[in-house]
Amino acid sequence: VPIRAGGYSDELVQTAKSVASPGRGILAIDESNATCGKRLASIGLDNTETNRQAYRQLLLTTPGLGQYISGAILFEETLYQSTTDGKKFVDCLREAKIMPGIKVDKGLVPLPGSNNESWCQGLDGLASRSAEYYKQGARFAKWRTVVSIPCGPSALAVKEAAWGLARYAAISQDNGLVPIVEPEILLDGDHSIDRTLEVAEKVWSEVFFYLAENNVLFEGILLKPSMVTPGAEHKEKASPETIAKYTLKMLRRRVPPAVPGIMFLSGGQSEVEATLNLNAMNQSPNPWHVSFSYARALQNTVLKTWQGNPENVEAAQKALLVRAEANSLAQLGKYTD
Ligand code: 13P
Repeated sequence: VPIRAGGYSDELVQTAKSVASPGRGILAIDESNATCGKRLASIGLDNTETNRQAYRQLLLTTPGLGQYISGAILFEETLYQSTTDGKKFVDCLREAKIMPGIKVDKGLVPLPGSNNESWCQGLDGLASRSAEYYKQGARFAKWRTVVSIPCGPSALAVKEAAWGLARYAAISQDNGLVPIVEPEILLDGDHSIDRTLEVAEKVWSEVFFYLAENNVLFEGILLKPSMVTPGAEHKEKASPETIAKYTLKMLRRRVPPAVPGIMFLSGGQSEVEATLNLNAMNQSPNPWHVSFSYARALQNTVLKTWQGNPENVEAAQKALLVRAEANSLAQLGKYTD
């Protein structure tokens, strides 16, 4: 087992285990200010710090959330914010036994020399930022890069995505943060599920090659994969059983059992689809905790219910608990709709 610098190895293993605990998953609310603005616009609200704070307060102070949610991924602004009563969000989470996490990548930009693909920025200064986030209470991190099937993907884009994730993972571990490794394979395209499987296998083999080369401690990471599905514009839809079969085949071929948890992204699936697919993956025992790290599939109904109206906060929090509980059951393979 590689010993990471910084002396955090044991703590990283403990953190990863506690996020990957039975019947729980991650609430992803780490939308950048620009993306959060789009969500707020969908209910007619302006993208102000006050509105972002009010929305995140609604989510993070939902009573009983810790029963189903083990970690919350925050955007930097939220990590330093407090409730309107002056209680730090980080303290609200700690009391609810929810681990605070932080998005540390700086987003996507065009990748020169590729087929209109992108790469993810954020390695410059990452060590010092990570140390600051740890001091502020964060215990895990997230870095999301993307791979596009219709654009290739080119060998260059896959290699860059994998290398960036591995550098980020090593830096996070040296600063006490469990890295969530997220190469999102976008749903866009009319390709078949077999093509997605082929690309996912390629991407994850490169990711693990470079994670190993960077001496990353596998027991102290979490993965955030896309499920293996047909492209969003493909002529046929796949059943949850088929998606589970393909996704688990890919994971068993590529992910060592030392990795404690697989926390799927929802990637534009509907709330119920995301729950049914997760439930299908938990119908037989897996070598890793197989769970969720959803943003849209946990928040869509919450936003619609809230509408920015303080009178709707309680109803919106109930809507969050409904999705959180459904996904908790799906993590245990016990969801029925
Ligand atoms: P979605 O579940 O909406 O795809 O979000 C994924 C993500 O990376 C947020 O942290």
